[in-house]
Amino acid sequence: MRIDVVTIFPEYLAPARLSLLGKAQSAGLISVQVHDLREHATDRHNTVDDTPYGGGPGMVMMAEPWGLALDAIADQAKTAGVRPRLVVPTPSGRVFNQAVASELAQVEHLVFACGRYEGIDSRVLLAAEADFDVDEISIGDYVLAGGEVAALVIIEATTRLVAGVLGNEESVADDSFAPGRMEKLVEGPVFTKPSQWRDLEVPDVVLSGDHAAIARWRRDEALRRTATRRPELIEHTPAEQFDSTDQELLAALGWREDQGRWIR
Ligand SMILES: C[S@@+](CC[C@H](N)C(=O)[O-])C[C@H]1O[C@@H](n2cnc3c(N)ncnc32)[C@H](O)[C@@H]1O
Repeated sequence: MRIDVVTIFPEYLAPARLSLLGKAQSAGLISVQVHDLREHATDRHNTVDDTPYGGGPGMVMMAEPWGLALDAIADQAKTAGVRPRLVVPTPSGRVFNQAVASELAQVEHLVFACGRYEGIDSRVLLAAEADFDVDEISIGDYVLAGGEVAALVIIEATTRLVAGVLGNEESVADDSFAPGRMEKLVEGPVFTKPSQWRDLEVPDVVLSGDHAAIARWRRDEALRRTATRRPELIEHTPAEQFDSTDQELLAALGWREDQGRWIR
């Protein structure tokens, strides 16, 4: 997978060189190129923003530097014969989640356009449609100061799903919101050595070596945690996705089945 990030703060992307993503780059599985938007500014002050037409507070990122930066990436992609996906982090985009991460993990070339101030002149995305599949994505209902952190979130969640990036592929299947599962549960508690720490012990079942019992315990705890913290995930799951033990647990937690769903 190839990733390009355009930003006025290239240093913000430094974490992309660390940990799993850093190793994936060393292994040649992923390449990340960070571009400074100001290199495409057209005046001697490297200006990339101006006041908004129509008035109002703040500044808007100018179309021309963005147009030139994206043209340069599009030209390279054309040479490679790939149509990239242009991911534009914005609070007004579709909401990012594990399913979107799985979708992006299949894309050969991702380009991130990191906005600042009041965002990017809207004509940039219209013009970009000629060369890119434009995808406006929000990482949640709050407003960041810029798109860089959002791009890092999307890149990190997406690249760990690219084949070969995680050492242990099974951990993807066990994750909260694991792709492919109809029901989306958050993961339950996890423990490592020592089995006793301060006055707290790891539950006996987890130490038992009985894999079926451990799997059931994990499932119960995931269900218990989801029911408490993210009840809407259970409410949106068709009832047939829950086995009889799940259903007993949900009933014990005060849930009931109603028209093919479990509700509180
Ligand atoms: C201060 S925000 C602009 C907010 C804009 N006035 C609005 O209300 O939509 C500057 C930039 O931060 C990024 N950003 C802010 N919140 C975000 C979110 N929840 N998800 C993704 N990107 C976000 C976007 O790139 C945005 O252009």
